[in-house]
Amino acid sequence: MVHPDAALISRLAADLRSADFHSARIRAAWGESADDAFGRGTRVPALRELGDRRDPLAVLARLLVLGVAQPTTEVADAVPTLTTDGLVALGLGEVSGDEIRPLALIRPQSYVDDSGVGGWWVASDLDETALGGPLPDDHVLGVGGASLTLAGLQLTSPASRVLDLGTGCGIQALRARRYADAVVATDISASALAYADFNALLNGIDGIETRMGSLFEPVVGETFDRIVSNPPFVITPRRDDVPAYDYRDGGMQGDDLVSAVIAGVGEHLSPGGIAQFLGNWEYVGDGDGLDRVRAWIEASPVPLDAWIVEREQLDPAEYAALWIRDGGTVAGSGAHERLLDAWLDDFAHRDVTRIGFGYVLLRRAVGEPTLHRYERVGTPIPAEGSLGSHLVQVLAAHDRLATMSDADLAAARLLVAPDVTEARHHLPGQEEPTVIELRQGTGFGRALSVDPALAGLVGACDGDLPVGSLSDAIAQLLEVDPTALRTDLLPRVRELLIDGFLRFPEQA
Ligand SMILES: C[S@@+](CC[C@H](N)C(=O)[O-])C[C@H]1O[C@@H](n2cnc3c(N)ncnc32)[C@H](O)[C@@H]1O
Repeated sequence: MVHPDAALISRLAADLRSADFHSARIRAAWGESADDAFGRGTRVPALRELGDRRDPLAVLARLLVLGVAQPTTEVADAVPTLTTDGLVALGLGEVSGDEIRPLALIRPQSYVDDSGVGGWWVASDLDETALGGPLPDDHVLGVGGASLTLAGLQLTSPASRVLDLGTGCGIQALRARRYADAVVATDISASALAYADFNALLNGIDGIETRMGSLFEPVVGETFDRIVSNPPFVITPRRDDVPAYDYRDGGMQGDDLVSAVIAGVGEHLSPGGIAQFLGNWEYVGDGDGLDRVRAWIEASPVPLDAWIVEREQLDPAEYAALWIRDGGTVAGSGAHERLLDAWLDDFAHRDVTRIGFGYVLLRRAVGEPTLHRYERVGTPIPAEGSLGSHLVQVLAAHDRLATMSDADLAAARLLVAPDVTEARHHLPGQEEPTVIELRQGTGFGRALSVDPALAGLVGACDGDLPVGSLSDAIAQLLEVDPTALRTDLLPRVRELLIDGFLRFPEQA
């Protein structure tokens, strides 16, 4: 467990700065191909590229990024301000003969958001590459793919208080604090909270308060204007011979943890407050997993606006293999087969046919809920790390449209979003396109086929003329009934606004 000692951590930060311990510098030190290999869990190419370099950046990269023991004298040269005693006192390493063995990792993490480009140092437990085997149950996770997904989804508008439920190493809390005055970060793991405190200090970020406890226990009676969570949603068989990892498994049956978060979140949101989290949901028998989520949301004692984006579905065997591998148990081993059997028994017991994964956005409704969006978006997202500002934009469009009649919409002047492109596909030799496709370059990267009338309207949305006038002009051009064309186009214009293809001028 690391020790979040402020004085020692500020000395460590000074040494990391002076070694230029940043992602770009480390990537440059071992090259792109070794970096990719490391991303896939193999550190040998990176070690080979570093060769016998003994400068502070190389020593710290081996010790703290790759998790390889380094000679004590060389570590001493790399952390002259902290000293090796300080490093040991912080819980980052231990002396073993004439070497320092790592006990934790520190990895630089770069990010880009609306406020600019930045980077954090994120300390976490040794991963399975550094450990050379399966993870212990109380493992504290570093920044993984899911962490980055949720960090990118976080809304980028200002907030006063944010709750990060299940903070782990604190990555969501760090991200939330970029836009919020204060963050409360909770976890059931004392070790995770120590890392969250450690990382806040290491990055010089104040205003993050850590609290111990399960789910909403540490915040009873409190409300927040944002709640973010990458909760331990992984569905795990409840058997003594199946490891239950704190970092991914909330100890409940099936997808009960996600339903518990949904049941409890409303009363901890202030009116209009928004919760964003990741989750898995089961498809039981012939049932639809998104309907299952809908039922949980409709059962919430606090009325909630809901936007659920299912990103993928796995069958039980794929799902089990994914999470068995994630725990460090390799395919083909006896242990792997035994675990796979346990997972498949568990799913069969509840008649689970598939497991959905996706993003959940819930808002404490002010009045009757107006947002009921349950969708599957499987296309690659152009810049997954920057969805937050897109969500802010399209939620604002939804709210505005909720108060607008069709006549109001016909009177509105709209703009086509700057990332939208149009592609026309023709049969060879034909002048008229058979397919016109609009595509988003940001946001969810949606693509949709439109007819010539809608394509013409979108193309003409430059904020000059009202939508109704544009529709009438197109009706004249196409020689169709203007009233019928308005009736046809206006609902689709609403959808284009809600998806972010079109914008109100004030949002541009
Ligand atoms: C998937 S990790 C997420 C860590 C980090 N927030 C991120 O995004 O990378 C889930 C975290 O939830 C914590 N956790 C597990 N059960 C919990 C519970 N019942 N209540 C609160 N946190 C819990 C785990 O200890 C772990 O740190």
